[in-house]
Formats: sequence, structure tokens, C-alpha cells
Amino acid sequence: MKAAVRTGGAIRFSACAKAPRKPGMNEVLVSVRAAGINPIDYKLPKLLGGPVAGLDLAGVAVAVGHGVKDFKEGDEVFGFAKSGSVAEQALCDGAKLALKPKELAFTDAAALATAYLTSLQALRTHGKLQAGGSVLVIGASGGCGLSGVKLAKALGAAEVVGVTSSKNAELVKAAGASRTVDYTSEAEMSALLSEGPTFDVVYDCATGSGKGEDYVKAAKAVLKPGGVTVAINGKPGDWMRLIFNMQPKGRKMMLTKQNSAELGELIKLLGTTGIEIDSLHELSEAGVDAAFDRLKSRRARGKVVITVMEAG
Ligand SMILES: NC(=O)c1ccc[n+]([C@@H]2O[C@H](COP(=O)([O-])OP(=O)(O)OC[C@H]3O[C@@H](n4cnc5c(N)ncnc54)[C@H](OP(=O)(O)O)[C@@H]3O)[C@@H](O)[C@H]2O)c1
Repeated sequence: MKAAVRTGGAIRFSACAKAPRKPGMNEVLVSVRAAGINPIDYKLPKLLGGPVAGLDLAGVAVAVGHGVKDFKEGDEVFGFAKSGSVAEQALCDGAKLALKPKELAFTDAAALATAYLTSLQALRTHGKLQAGGSVLVIGASGGCGLSGVKLAKALGAAEVVGVTSSKNAELVKAAGASRTVDYTSEAEMSALLSEGPTFDVVYDCATGSGKGEDYVKAAKAVLKPGGVTVAINGKPGDWMRLIFNMQPKGRKMMLTKQNSAELGELIKLLGTTGIEIDSLHELSEAGVDAAFDRLKSRRARGKVVITVMEAG
């Protein structure tokens, strides 16, 4: 089958990747219509990530294993793949899929799983965001950041401020931020810091993302007493503290927990329109190269999605 495969430290298109096996207990085989991609896809080596790249997908269930109660053949679904999502077919754990509403486009549904679930858990589970609260989203124009802005509003935040470069300010405001701060402007960053402890939750989607981004001190300076910064990347020491449950008070790293129930909740919170897609690419040699080049540039505005098969 056609797929994006990990080979020689890179991700490349292959026309003859091995198709997944038949679904076993609690598994669903999905004919993939679209696959969203995330930085973790190019960061994970083949040994950990498997031969086929990608976690997020939307498609049609073509076979269901024993024990699957929530899905049947022909259902339109979205969520997480266990065998790699950027492929014509993907094996999924039934507990990590949700039914896709007909009105939600496959390409939009494919953008949701990792970024949107990460943001929901960052804000609600770890950030304990309450209606009326205030949120600062750092890296507000990327896959996680933009979903964080939208979900903070959907969860009832009274004020959402986005840290983003000025070229993306309007995009971030359109997603629900009341204002933006340009991280490339020393004056704007100093003005933000001089506001002091203003935010109940800081959602840091930028620190440790590969180009020396570091917002640890800035986040601490603007966090209200009793508030929490939720970070989704950091230094190796931060990951060790997460693993050994020794995180400092006020700053938490998190790893996304893949599950069906919260995928379903995303639709209730967001509706079926307005998912920001940075770019769509075909499952072809040129398409896979362009999609991952775009993602690796760290300039994506919303989600990068690869279309796998025509819907219908
Ligand atoms: N822990 C977890 O479970 C988990 C889950 C998902 C993602 N992650 C990690 O979270 C990070 C973000 O993921 P993502 O999918 O949102 O990435 P992404 O879509 O590639 O992020 C791109 C965005 O980052 C912004 N950006 C780049 N440099 C920045 C800087 N110095 N300050 C502020 N913004 C900056 C860019 O905005 P401008 O063009 O305006 O600069 C761009 O919009 C990655 O490191 C990823 O691996 C972790």
C-alpha cells in the first residue's frame, strides 16, 4: 500500500509499504481518508514509532475485531492509529477512535486527535481551567497553540492571550484571543512581563521545541499564585521529572492520553466547522516531502494534513 515510511532517519513516500494485519481483539481497520501530522511523527525513530509515520487519522472502518461494540464496518471515524496513519489503511485501537459526524470533513477530523486532545487535557485536566479564568497560550499559531486558544474559549475562559509572531496575530485573534503579544518584539514581551501575575493558566506550546525556545521564566512571571503552567515540551530533565513524578509546583509537563471519550467531547466543544488547516498535501512523493518540510519549518499555522483517498 501507499504510505509515508520511516527510512534512513527521514520520512519518505513508499508505494509498497506493508499493509496492516487483520484487526484483533478490540481493534478496527480503517481505510484512511486523511491523516494529520505532528512534530512527534518526525521526532520518533523507527524503533519507537514503527515503520509507518503518523498518529492522527480520519477514515472509514472496513473491518472490526472481536469485542468492538462502538463501531461497525462502514462507520466514519477519527482518532489515533497504532500502525501509522499516513497510509491507505491503518490499524487502530477501538478505545482510541470516535465516530465522525457526517458534517465534519475528513480533512478537519484528521487534524483533531493529537493537537486538540493535548490542548483539552492541558487546559482542563492539568490546568484546571475554570469558566471566567484567564489563559496565556505561548506558540499560539501552531497545531497545539491554535487549538488551545479555541478550546480555552470553548471551556469558558474570560480572557485568552496568544504569544505569536505578528504575522499570525489576526489568525490567533480569529480563534478567540482577545489580544496577542509578538515574541519577536522585545518591547511587547517586556510589556507582557511587566503586567505581572495575570494568568490562571499558561499553556506553553513552544519551550523546548527544537530551536532553543525557552519561556520558562516568562511563564513564571505572569502566572497568578496558585496557577499552573502546562508545558508540552521541555529539556530532558523536565521529561525525567515527569516520569518520576517530581515536577515543580506551578509548572507541569504532560503527555497526551489517547482516548475515545475526549475525542467525542471535542466535537461537542468545537462543533464541526472552523478547524484551522495550514495546508493539505497528497499521499505522493512530492506531497509527503512538502508536508513534512512544512511541519519541520515550525511555521505551520494550524494543522498540516495529508489527504490519502478521495472521500465517498
Ligand atoms: N507532550 C505532548 O503530549 C505533546 C503533544 C503534542 C505536541 N507536543 C509538542 O508540542 C510542541 C508544539 O507542537 P505543535 O504541533 O503545536 O507544533 P507546530 O504546529 O509545528 O508549531 C508551529 C508554531 O510554532 C510557533 N513558534 C515557532 N517558534 C516559536 C517561538 N520561539 N515562540 C513562539 N511560537 C513559536 C510558530 O509560530 P510563528 O510562525 O508565529 O513563529 C508556528 O505557528 C512540539 O514540540 C511538539 O512535539 C507535545
